[in-house]
Amino acid sequence: MYILGIESSCDDTSAAVITDGGLLLSNVIASQSVHEEYGGVVPELASRAHQQNIVPVVDAAIRRAGIERGRLSAIAFTRGPGLIGSLLVGTSFAKGLSLGLRVPMVDVNHLQAHVLAHFIKETPDTEVPEFPYLCLLVSGGNSQIIVVRSAADMEIIGRTIDDAAGEAFDKCAKVMGLPYPGGPHIDRLAAEGKPEAFRFARPRIDGLDYSFSGLKTSFLYTLRDNLRQDPEFIEKRRADLAASLQAAIIDILMKKLEKAVDMTGITTVAIGGGVSANSGVRNAVADMCARRGLKAFIPERKFTTDNAAMVAIAGYFKYLESDFCPYNAVPYARIGG
Ligand code: KG4
Repeated sequence: MYILGIESSCDDTSAAVITDGGLLLSNVIASQSVHEEYGGVVPELASRAHQQNIVPVVDAAIRRAGIERGRLSAIAFTRGPGLIGSLLVGTSFAKGLSLGLRVPMVDVNHLQAHVLAHFIKETPDTEVPEFPYLCLLVSGGNSQIIVVRSAADMEIIGRTIDDAAGEAFDKCAKVMGLPYPGGPHIDRLAAEGKPEAFRFARPRIDGLDYSFSGLKTSFLYTLRDNLRQDPEFIEKRRADLAASLQAAIIDILMKKLEKAVDMTGITTVAIGGGVSANSGVRNAVADMCARRGLKAFIPERKFTTDNAAMVAIAGYFKYLESDFCPYNAVPYARIGG
């Protein structure tokens, strides 16, 4: 069995091939540098870049897998959520290839793909989680705590009521004058700063939901007030600001994750999404699991950001259930829309 995965939900064009048991044969990613000068992803430019990249990327993925395209068993593609123009490129390409090869098409939810990324096997003995597990999904668009009972049965038990964790990183980084996306820059700077140098607001909301808007405002006010006294404040305190911001975000994320562990009694905890590449987040989850005797699944960094290997593995699970997608399927920008 060979499943081709195609990912084009935002600004990475990616294709991957997975075989029996979830063994990864190839994973090719073309990132788009065109957005850097705009300080964020420009949807129209993203769609155009996907159009240019998709053929060579899919070709390379099949070639690197060492197979002929006629051996593919199914085409899995990200149907949403994401940027609609970007999704249309991957969806239309998947339809064309699936019709041309006369193999079924499997639609994949991008967020579920992040959650299932832990089943990608780079070698036959890669350890994978057992169901049920808790997944902290933290990216540029989402912050969720999910109970994963099976590949097809996931329940979101906590979500952000305003910004996502990645947005908190990126928006605060932007006001510090750091390039987009700011998350990785904060991560790098934080390693040289003092996490206790500044204290930013933590939200007080019940249950398992997240909120990052108060933290963002408190970060902004700290900069504004200090810049009045010293115009070089940001320059001088860069590392301390980054370390304190990162510590606040981690603190917020971990409080609810621990609460979710207490409430569900689930003993396996995984993380996923772009923000799970953050060194502090990775350490905090590993420490919490070690302290509480839980099993931790921390993905390799290359599987934290958008990639087609996770789409292929999510498609693989649906393929096993013969859960195929009709040709009149259209992409969706948002869940339920
Ligand atoms: O999952 P992802 O690639 O796509 C979106 O949902 O957009 O996540 C991107 C997010 C961005 O907000 C980026 O700043 C953040 O992940 N990110 C990080 C790190 N690497 C990526 N945030 C903090 N530390 C990092 N090392």
